[in-house]
Amino acid sequence: MELSRTTTHSPDETVAFGRTLAAQLRPPKLVLLRGELGAGKTTLVKGIAEALDAAAADDVTSPTFTLVHEYRGPRITVLHVDLYRIETERELDTLGLEDYYNDRDTLLLIEWGEKFPRFAQGRDLEIAITRLGEDDRQIMVLA
Ligand SMILES: Nc1ncnc2c1ncn2[C@@H]1O[C@H](COP(=O)(O)OP(=O)(O)OP(=O)(O)O)[C@@H](O)[C@H]1O
Ligand SMILES: [Mg+2]
Repeated sequence: MELSRTTTHSPDETVAFGRTLAAQLRPPKLVLLRGELGAGKTTLVKGIAEALDAAAADDVTSPTFTLVHEYRGPRITVLHVDLYRIETERELDTLGLEDYYNDRDTLLLIEWGEKFPRFAQGRDLEIAITRLGEDDRQIMVLA
């Protein structure tokens, strides 16, 4: 079900939208971030993590190589995961994400998580970003 749809016109606007979105993302939640390479998934996480007091926007970077970034705030931990390079269930298991599922204070934000049935089926929310133009992005929130 579509909960909202908005268009941003710059990276900063996407960060700002992430801040407003954060109120809907109280942990524990598993959120899939969908969209092609460079859509703006990581950019959105900057705003979400900042609004939840987990990290400054500038400190949120892509977990492209490290796969998992953990941002620990006083109340909430944001776990930002990028599964683009993970190809098998076995590789996925080595990341130990299960430890975070049941943590009441953790918000899980997963890029490229839809590749795996456990996330496609188990997600609480999905945020789909579509590139409309050089700097224009449509951001849809789906339950
Ligand atoms: N409105 C916008 N919102 C977000 N990013 C934008 C926007 N306009 C331009 N950009 C640019 O698009 C890129 C988005 O990169 P970002 O790392 O957030 O994408 P991503 O979806 O996480 O990609 P990947 O799958 O490779 O991790 C950045 O270079 C950013 O500057
Ligand atoms: Mg990214």
